[in-house]
Amino acid sequence: MLNPQPAHPFDLRELNVLVVDDQEDVCRGLKRLIGTLGCEVQTCLSGEEALARMQKEDFDIVFTDIKMKGMSGVELLHKIHQNWSNVEVVMITGHGTIEQAVSCLQNGASHFITKPFDNSEILSFVERAGYKILSARQAQRISNKFRNRDIIAIDKSMRQVLELVDQVAPSKVPVLIEGPSGTGKELIAREIHQRSAVRDKPFVAINCIALPDSLLESELFGYKKGAFTGAHKDTKGLFEQVNGGTLFLDEVASMSPLFQGKLLRVLQEKVIRPLGGNETVRVNFRLITASNRNLEEMVRRGEFREDLFYRLQVMKITLPPLKERKACIPALAEYFLEQAAQEFLGEDEPHPRLSPAAIQVLKNYDWPGNVRELENTIQRALIVCRGDKILPSHLGLSGSARNETSLFQEITSYEEGKQKAIENFQRTYILNALQRTNGNISRAAELCGLTRAALQRIMKKLQIERDTIGKE
Ligand SMILES: Nc1ncnc2c1ncn2[C@@H]1O[C@H](COP(=O)(O)OP(=O)(O)OP(=O)(O)O)[C@@H](O)[C@H]1O
Ligand SMILES: [Mg+2]
Repeated sequence: MLNPQPAHPFDLRELNVLVVDDQEDVCRGLKRLIGTLGCEVQTCLSGEEALARMQKEDFDIVFTDIKMKGMSGVELLHKIHQNWSNVEVVMITGHGTIEQAVSCLQNGASHFITKPFDNSEILSFVERAGYKILSARQAQRISNKFRNRDIIAIDKSMRQVLELVDQVAPSKVPVLIEGPSGTGKELIAREIHQRSAVRDKPFVAINCIALPDSLLESELFGYKKGAFTGAHKDTKGLFEQVNGGTLFLDEVASMSPLFQGKLLRVLQEKVIRPLGGNETVRVNFRLITASNRNLEEMVRRGEFREDLFYRLQVMKITLPPLKERKACIPALAEYFLEQAAQEFLGEDEPHPRLSPAAIQVLKNYDWPGNVRELENTIQRALIVCRGDKILPSHLGLSGSARNETSLFQEITSYEEGKQKAIENFQRTYILNALQRTNGNISRAAELCGLTRAALQRIMKKLQIERDTIGKE
């Protein structure tokens, strides 16, 4: 028997659990036990009270006794399933109600526990259910976020990426998307799915780095009832759930060698065997993988299976870091600002605009965290900015720890580093001064305590255009 005990990849404090039992000590005991995982646990002494509580608050898991005064646990299960079909219901069975508990499994209950309780079984169930609930919630959040996302591609390298997307989308060939963190790998994977013939089928994403082998295996392959402690029902894995759609394996480089072998076999044979099962099941999916490490180099160093690598990268799309597509920066920034304004500002509130000086700072920055860092920077700037214009000072980039870090990663000598740091300071300082004077050089020079000629010399050295500062 397998007994996966993963380091939990999600924060179980997000889980809201309700315990329903007419015996107060059972309520107290379960509350204390499940509370050790960090979950929020509430208790009710009857089914009626539980339903009233559920009207007011959302719960993820409900533990209910079967035999209670008034409404029975079976009735409560029925009501919960009618009204809150996503809630996981666990039946608590005492002596003499085991048969009823088993029949509850056929009527939508997820699990049953018998008195006296096996604490480790209960904890392992909550951890697994928590993984399922929270990963589904995260997937929903992410897919909402990606819904109707435009892809900004002004730079030539990004236009070529979109051409490749168009070419690969209609066929079912596996695609490997490589690129540093935050460059848009998942966005491109979803775009391939959207432009493919299977766009009406599921797009299922799983991040290999977050999961230990045992959990990755049960997630992907599914399992049969009894395969491990807590496996009370046959459960389909993602290979089956995707059902002809697209399976997106993110951070594929972090897969263990053992798991690489298992994936290779699925790709070769197109069949899987669920954990604890004897029969194989045919599977049908389009595979897209992503990695922020160079897989070819990993193959050379013997860290990734060569045979698997060739199967994954039948087509490869490489996303350049943001600093190599600076032409995209202004359009991306405007786009993220519009999105953030829609999300964070009221309809009647005026939407601030990016000042030309701020755009210039954005273009000059190195963006070690790529597009995601730009998106976060713009969101932060919108919150910090109180007026109608986002200024360089709202971006929090100059002199920030990250900026300095990226500076030190790149430099070759102390002198060169010092020079860059000085230039960085000069640029932000002077852009701010010019912004405040609406591009008036004489007044900016006065503000800085410089002569007009000295200010102009610095502007020329840093290629700061006066025209980009002016009034909007
Ligand atoms: N060209 C683009 N146009 C518009 N938005 C983009 C673009 N590229 C990336 N984004 C946005 O930037 C964020 C990061 O993108 P995504 O999550 O796809 O990156 P990633 O490469 O998968 O990152 P990680 O390696 O960290 O998982 C997302 O919100 C995405 O919508
Ligand atoms: Mg990603």
